[in-house]
Amino acid sequence: MADPFYVVEHKALEAFAQQLLEGAGVAPHRAALVASNLIFGNLRGVDSHGMQLLPYYVEQLNSGLIDGAQDGAPINESGATMLYNAANGLGAVTSDICCGHAIRLAKANGIAFVVARDANHFGAAAYWGRRISREGLIGFAFCNASPIVPPFQAKEARLGTNPICMSVPGPADTSWLLDMATTTVAANRIFKAYHNKQEEIPAGWAMDKEGRPTTSTNEAFNGLVMPLGGYKGTGLAVMVEILCAILGGGAMSTEVGGLRVKDRPMGVSHSFLAIDPARFTGAAEFDTRMDKLTNYLHSAAPGAGFDEVLIAGEPESRFEKARAENGIPLGPGEWQRLLDWAGKFNIAPPASNHNA
Ligand SMILES: NC(=O)c1ccc[n+]([C@@H]2O[C@H](COP(=O)([O-])OP(=O)(O)OC[C@H]3O[C@@H](n4cnc5c(N)ncnc54)[C@H](O)[C@@H]3O)[C@@H](O)[C@H]2O)c1
Repeated sequence: MADPFYVVEHKALEAFAQQLLEGAGVAPHRAALVASNLIFGNLRGVDSHGMQLLPYYVEQLNSGLIDGAQDGAPINESGATMLYNAANGLGAVTSDICCGHAIRLAKANGIAFVVARDANHFGAAAYWGRRISREGLIGFAFCNASPIVPPFQAKEARLGTNPICMSVPGPADTSWLLDMATTTVAANRIFKAYHNKQEEIPAGWAMDKEGRPTTSTNEAFNGLVMPLGGYKGTGLAVMVEILCAILGGGAMSTEVGGLRVKDRPMGVSHSFLAIDPARFTGAAEFDTRMDKLTNYLHSAAPGAGFDEVLIAGEPESRFEKARAENGIPLGPGEWQRLLDWAGKFNIAPPASNHNA
């Protein structure tokens, strides 16, 4: 039998997230942005980057590791580029501002690249890729992350799960949207399994402390996250580190803090790239050619064991539709951690259906 979980209507859950952030002293407009970023993760089935992050954000706000009142400020703007000081503000708050700059600069120049340093967790990178692609631009988002991943052939962590996202303009539910960690899966999927007391995780997700592959959630939690496809994943993670921390002058590798690190701010760097298709084949031609490519991919005969071929973003769009209708399921550990904070802030939690 599946583990019990709690199902909450998504708008009520978003309002609850906002209230919890306000309870931690965040102004309503900033709290609303972070709440929207988290619910986006849950709606799209990316539960690793949904409400389960909120207790960590609240802990870090309470202990002063995140400055919930900061918007940050540009350090310099030159042509199509900007370097931004995120000043330890909430990741969603400073990322929203940086995406706004990337959109403005790309509309003026055809392309723009904005790098933010001294930033915090920005949730699912897709939120930011789509923030840019909604404006008719191709949007990319990158982020370096806490060092929990060994370089290929190592057993000591030096890299983060450093996500890569690319989102193309077009209808939100049918457009290609790649959003991936440079590890087999995002680390939070392992942490989520741990908090929800699942004993096993799928093969290929993690290694134990000695660098041996493991399916034990406990060993994985205390061990290492597996680079995606061996040295290729390591190469991509280093690429992200360069595009974020090296270019931006922020913390790199083991200098980076983390959601569970209590002695220093996270200090990650984000980068956002925007490209205007109108400057190349033209916006309409771009859409036509994207449709053609998507049709080529969809028309491939499914391999053994599959009955369809999907494009990147499609699994998450399906989740989005279903969860907008049916609500968001939360694991018991995850729900309890939210209820604990609600109790401390004297906030009434939203109604939930309990499925045992
Ligand atoms: N903020 C951070 O520090 C941080 C770090 C790492 C990861 N993340 C986030 O974690 C999330 C999850 O990452 P992940 O790597 O576990 O995602 P994933 O492995 O579930 O999916 C990766 C990509 O593959 C696509 N995909 C999945 N199944 C497919 C199929 N059958 N056919 C075609 N495409 C398919 C998805 O649409 C997605 O674009 C992402 O939102 C990422 O941004 C954030």
